[in-house]
Amino acid sequence: MKQATEGQFPTGLTTLDARYYTSTEIFAAAREKVFFNSWQFVCHESQVAAVGDYWAFSLFDQDLFIARGKDNQLRCFYNVCKHRGHTLVEGSGNKRVVVCPYHAWTYELSGELRGAPGTKGLAGLDLSGICLTEVALDTLFGFVFINMNPAPASLATTFPGVAEDILALCPDIAERKHANSVAIEKQANWLVAVENYNECYHCKHVHPTFASGVIDPGSYNIYPFVQSDGTAVRCLRHAAKAQTSQEAWYDTSGSDYGSFYLWPAFSLQIYPSGVVNSYHWRPLAVDRTEVHRGWYSNSGQIDEVINRVITLDRQTTVAEDAELVKNVQRGLNSRGYRPGPLVLNPEQGIESEHSIAALHNWVRADLGEFS
Ligand code: FES
Ligand SMILES: [Fe+2]
Repeated sequence: MKQATEGQFPTGLTTLDARYYTSTEIFAAAREKVFFNSWQFVCHESQVAAVGDYWAFSLFDQDLFIARGKDNQLRCFYNVCKHRGHTLVEGSGNKRVVVCPYHAWTYELSGELRGAPGTKGLAGLDLSGICLTEVALDTLFGFVFINMNPAPASLATTFPGVAEDILALCPDIAERKHANSVAIEKQANWLVAVENYNECYHCKHVHPTFASGVIDPGSYNIYPFVQSDGTAVRCLRHAAKAQTSQEAWYDTSGSDYGSFYLWPAFSLQIYPSGVVNSYHWRPLAVDRTEVHRGWYSNSGQIDEVINRVITLDRQTTVAEDAELVKNVQRGLNSRGYRPGPLVLNPEQGIESEHSIAALHNWVRADLGEFS
């Protein structure tokens, strides 16, 4: 089986230039080159389980929706009518067909145009073959992703070896259903929020309840995922032993902690004993990001453990990080800010920023060099 190994980085690296986090031009470039060209998490399959279920969402200024067709297939479409451009659906729910609110053109859940009022027999009007524009969709253990690149590599090809690693830590992950989710707006650039998530150098003194309630901080490490054949994957693997002290939030004795951040804006977390949860980040503006937390159980209900973890997570880790990223964003706008040194301990561990160095490499590769 393919295994993750730990990546190494030269010392002497510094953080990125402030413009990566503050420039509207670089933000616009990230929209095109990063977010419209990668797999973006939408929701869990259990949230669109029945034929006719749909789920509308937006990425930047692009409105999209996923729908489950009569053939039980999930598809993603741009949420725009092929007539004169009205949006088609809002929110989520169940429909037999999709009817445009403007002139009532009607589409099958497979995207084909089924009918348009007043058009029968009209000479010179050929509506055959009209179909909503489809967007690539793929799933990972029930987690639904879409990709606006017209011909993307599959999730399995983009993140080789990761599914096997997830399964090794949480063998019954495919049985989970969505139980709860919440969105929190953060006053920071998406990359500030993603960097904050992907290092635990700050955990011991900022997140004492997480560090004493969920993970054993001494064992924590975050490293770029590299396959056994040396292929680097744009995934950051967080790993730690479970915290089993008396302060543990729940019975954590079942299995260890692991998290799988998939570039650029999703992370699947397995808290000890298989408590599955997710993060995804949606950029709203150069200095605003919506952070979504999701929780998943086999019953699809918030059980006692999840209820406790959700509450503690919101009151502690999420709130603590919101303050950090807001203040970093403010600092990045300071005329006194200069890129600072990254802490790269060859031994890695919780006090090393190897993961940030990897993120910066991917940012530079996609957006180019700015200094
Ligand atoms: S814009 Fe949709 S039917 Fe006219
Ligand atoms: Fe944090």
